[in-house]
Amino acid sequence: MGKSSEPARHAPYNKGLDSTATCAARSALQNASRIAVLTGAGISAESGIPTFRGPGGIWRTYRAENLATPEAFARNPKFVWEWYDYRRSVIATVGPNAGHRALAAFEQRGGDFTLITQNVDGLHDRAGSRNVLKVHGDIWSLRCTICGREREEKSARLTELPPHCRCGGLERPGVVWFGEALPSSVWELAQRAARHIDVLLVVGTSAVVHPVAGLAHLAKSHGAMVVEVNLAETPVTSVADYSLRGSAAEVLPELFA
Ligand code: OAD
Repeated sequence: MGKSSEPARHAPYNKGLDSTATCAARSALQNASRIAVLTGAGISAESGIPTFRGPGGIWRTYRAENLATPEAFARNPKFVWEWYDYRRSVIATVGPNAGHRALAAFEQRGGDFTLITQNVDGLHDRAGSRNVLKVHGDIWSLRCTICGREREEKSARLTELPPHCRCGGLERPGVVWFGEALPSSVWELAQRAARHIDVLLVVGTSAVVHPVAGLAHLAKSHGAMVVEVNLAETPVTSVADYSLRGSAAEVLPELFA
């Protein structure tokens, strides 16, 4: 699929109405050989997990620098862990929604499909997605700060806070904090996908956190069509061929119908 020089068609999404832009985006997805999807907190919002920046957003209630930086963890690992333990307990009580399930079902049809997520909640896995590039890590993973061993720990509440590795070292959440690099192999795969796809679908992200926010521009500059699904306008809107304003749980099942 070639580069589109037409201006973006920003379609207000009308529930129950098969808008022209939704039809066009659906047909682009059906005809594409290689598709990538980038998701953000918005896709999990309808599962009951607050986003970061919207009304009721996590970073409107808590200060990121006290909870999601290596410095905060070095200062007070127990405090940081209590917050992550609380978030794990919230996530454990909810489940994937129709948006997550539509993506998992689409992957299962086969074909060249890459799912990239900034979410650490694991809801794509629970919906049945098999190959998820978790560019910001995974809240269900713990990593030793001494020996580097990673382990999966899925209990909603940890028995020991902060937890320790069998080597005795302090463990940290297996997520990416502000000021940290992304996991290099996962990020490499995400960038490679963005350079080689026909369509990038960007779902429920404010697209303000870099470097992930740059993936839409990377894909566009390599000739991909960009389709956005979001309740609001974002920096991706200006490069999107189709910007569908609606909720992920409503729009994705229609796009992949
Ligand atoms: P944000 O909270 O910044 O943005 C959520 C986006 O989802 C907004 O653009 C909303 O308009 C949109 N949205 C909300 N509900 C929606 C729905 N039901 N359907 C569709 N869209 C909806 O979350 P992210 O962009 O994911 O990083 O944030 C990026 C990163 O910032 C996160 O991965 C996290 C955070 O700090 C780390 O933890 C490293």
